Amino acid sequence: MQPRKIKILVVCLGNICRSPLAHGILEYKLSLENNCIIDSAGTANYHIGSKPDLRSIAIAKTNGIDISHQKARQFIREDFDRYDIIYAMDTSNYNNIVALASSKTETKKVKLILNENPNIENKNVPDPYYGGDSGFEYVFNILEETCEIIANRILI
Ligand code: 4NP
Repeated sequence: MQPRKIKILVVCLGNICRSPLAHGILEYKLSLENNCIIDSAGTANYHIGSKPDLRSIAIAKTNGIDISHQKARQFIREDFDRYDIIYAMDTSNYNNIVALASSKTETKKVKLILNENPNIENKNVPDPYYGGDSGFEYVFNILEETCEIIANRILI
């Protein structure tokens, strides 16, 4: 019998800067693992249907990952049923997602992604949208390190 698929959703505010990076990195690291489904979404509706921010596409490409095909969508209540783990990028995203949960089981699925990384003290992935390229590089690096920890746990 096939093992059950592990389904992970990563969520930020706009689904154009941070969560597309985590989505692409996790997909890349788990590409040989058939039993995972990875997706991303935003809590806001500002950018529905848009590609990732060009600065996220660029930093991913520099690191060998193509995220240019991704399209932003908004988090919906059905995501609680569809995914096993919902990783929020910061506490604001976390609170917005949890506010939509209608049971303890749904609430328990929501986690801060940086809680998976003991090396990082500040558990919020900073929003790089209004900053420069260095912010995107920093976000890529902490998500890369964190997704490595998550992927290794799944692959063991
Ligand atoms: P993200 O970044 O949540 O990492 O996708 C943002 C993207 C867009 C906006 C804010 C944050 N915005 O205000 O449009």
